[in-house]
Order: sequence, then structure tokens, then C-alpha cells
Amino acid sequence: MEFRFASRVADVKSSAVRDILKLTQGKDMISFAGGLPAEELFPVQAVKEAAERLFSQGTGALQYGLTEGYLPLREQLCARMAQKGMHVQPDEMILTTGSQQAISLLVQVLTEPGDTVLVERPTYLACLQVFDLYGLNIVAVESDENGMIPEDAERLIREHKPKLLYAVPTFGNPTGYVWSMERRTKILNLCVQNGVPILEDDPYGDIKYDENAVYPSMFALDEKNKSGAVIYTSTFSKTVAPALRTGWAIGDKRVIQMMAKAKQAADIHSSSMDQQILSQLLKHFPLDEHIKVISSSYGERMHEMQKLLREQAIEGLSWIEPKGGMFLWAELPEGLDAEALLKAAVTKGVAFVPGSSFYGKDPQRNTMRLNFTHNKGIRTVQGVERLAEAIREFTARS
Ligand SMILES: Cc1ncc(COP(=O)(O)O)c(C=O)c1O
Repeated sequence: MEFRFASRVADVKSSAVRDILKLTQGKDMISFAGGLPAEELFPVQAVKEAAERLFSQGTGALQYGLTEGYLPLREQLCARMAQKGMHVQPDEMILTTGSQQAISLLVQVLTEPGDTVLVERPTYLACLQVFDLYGLNIVAVESDENGMIPEDAERLIREHKPKLLYAVPTFGNPTGYVWSMERRTKILNLCVQNGVPILEDDPYGDIKYDENAVYPSMFALDEKNKSGAVIYTSTFSKTVAPALRTGWAIGDKRVIQMMAKAKQAADIHSSSMDQQILSQLLKHFPLDEHIKVISSSYGERMHEMQKLLREQAIEGLSWIEPKGGMFLWAELPEGLDAEALLKAAVTKGVAFVPGSSFYGKDPQRNTMRLNFTHNKGIRTVQGVERLAEAIREFTARS
């Protein structure tokens, strides 16, 4: 059979992360590539007890459910959102199959092929895949460690009249950077003035190393304007477990209703069982305490990786210390191509994601993303040693 694939899929690049993960299945391979949480920190017992409690109550969790998601969980999440200054009702929220699906649904309801979406530079790899799949013109706004640069955003808004601006303002992927209050406010105001909806993607906001630090979401900041410009999405993937595939989006009721229409066509609803397990878990398990434990452990792992990298004294390697999240974004010596380096690194038994994957166009090739949450102890020590060796040999050769 000769399949004539639609151009929307034929032209989409496969994810570099997935391709690399395929290479890193071997036991001896130390992977700093995937954005994987630490398995030993999964709340296994709490999930098990939540599931047992659920099934002791009957069979409802195995039945079809609402497209918008299990109402008690939406109510619990509304209460959690309110603690962060985001005040919504359950009908302003939809539960999704991970926040990844929220990105996809929003793109379906707000954009046509050829429309422009503004993104950070660099930005989340899998959002680029969604934007490509739906034929969007991806335009990157100049960005630094404090967020998108408003003057560039303003110029690009004027030039392209974008349909959407996508951002991860708190502990971005791949950079780990946090937008300053000034940038949050300026970008928000620009978008409100120009009628550009913002998709604020916040999977990592809870994973902060200083538990007292407060980073108000753009959604919360917009409550004063009441503009409704921000659609906010988050997930249980990093705070409980990714396999439960439960995320949520909040925003203007009309947008949420449209997303529900698109979701009906996509998968009718996300797993009732997973949502009801999470609802039980939120009732009986101190999730916020658990988040503190994860965040503190990830903070330690981040410091450990930094220390090991410093000890290796790799010439020309630099990074900015992240204040939360799961990644360290490093710049390699000028002119070094991290994709070529990756091939050398894999032969040494270590993997990372080359930075070029996180740019729509004109990648900065001497960059890489290192995940520090999945490994610890001797694995991190050996991984950094292998990486340093690969970089040294690679630079000596080229
Ligand atoms: C920035 C960002 N958004 C969204 C997601 C999707 O997460 P999930 O679909 O598991 O909720 C991820 C996952 O790594 C991410 O890094």
C-alpha cells in the first residue's frame, strides 16, 4: 500500500527527545536527556491507597465521564488555584490528558493554518511540534533569563498580528528561567492591548527550590484587568506522576467550552479512573508536603550537578543557576555543535538534549539541556564525568 500522508504530518519533525530516548535504553547509558521525574519519589503508596479507596466505593471510576472532567476534582483544583491567586469556577476549567493536550486543544480552537504564534527563544520542544502539526507560523521573540523582551514582542505583534502567544514563565523548559514581574506585566499588557491571547504553560511552577519564593502567574496578574487574555495550564505530571496523564486548563468559559468540543472529537474525555484516583489522593494525602519533598530533593540534585560540572572545569561551559524546575540549560564553547557532540557523548554512555531542538528557526547550536532530576549519586557523578570527557575529546578533534 502506498500511503499518501497528509503534509501536516509528513512535514513534522520527529521529536529529538524521543529519538534520543530510543538510543538511551541500555542499562549503562546515563541519560540527562528526558524530562523524567525521580521514580523513587513517586507517591506509590498514596496512589495505591487512593485506588483501593476508589474501588471499594463501586465501579463508577470505570464508566464514561464528562468531557470537561470529573467535577469533584475540578472543584478541588479550583480551591488549589485560588490559593495561588487564580479564582475560577469549575465551568472555567477543563481536565485534559496531560497539559500537552491542553496546548493542542487551544491551538485547534484559536488558530487556522498560517496563523502566527509567538514563542520564547528557546521554547518547549513539544509545543513546537503541536504548532507545526497545525501549520502555524512560529515566530520566536528575543528572550533572556528574565523572560521575553517586550520591545521585540511589540515589534513582532505589530508585524505578524499573532493569534496566540505561548510562554512558560516559571522555570521554563529548556532554560529553567523565571520571568521577572516587570516582564510578566509588560508582556501581559501588550497582549491585552493588542488582543493576543496568552497560553501560560506552568508544569514546573510548584517545583521551586526556595519554598518561600512567590512567582505570580500571568493568569493571576490578569485578574485585575479582567481581560480574560490568559489561558493557563498545569499538570499533575511533575508533582504526582506523569502516567496519570492528568492536566488542566483554566480560562474564559467560552474558550473552555470550545476546547471541550475539540476534546470530544479527540478522546471523549480523559481517563475517569486516573482523575478519580487523583481526587481521592487530594482528599487524603498531603500533596503540598510531598511537593516540598520533591522540590527539596530536586534542588539538591541541581546543586550536585552544578558542583560536578564546576569540578570538571570545562572550558567555555556556562549556565545560569535555575531557581526551580528540572533542567539546567548550558552554553558550550562558541562554535561547538551540540548535535554532533551528542553522537560522541552517546558512545561514551551519556545523553542530553541538544539545544537546537528548542528553536523554531535559527537554532543556537552550542547549547544543551541537562535534566538533573532523574539521576542521583554515582549515576550523576559518572554521567558528568562522561560528558566532560566527550566535550574535551570533541573539542580537541574539531
Ligand atoms: C513546558 C511543558 N509543557 C507541557 C508538558 C506536558 O506535560 P504533561 O502532558 O505530562 O502534563 C511538559 C512536559 O514535560 C513541559 O515541559
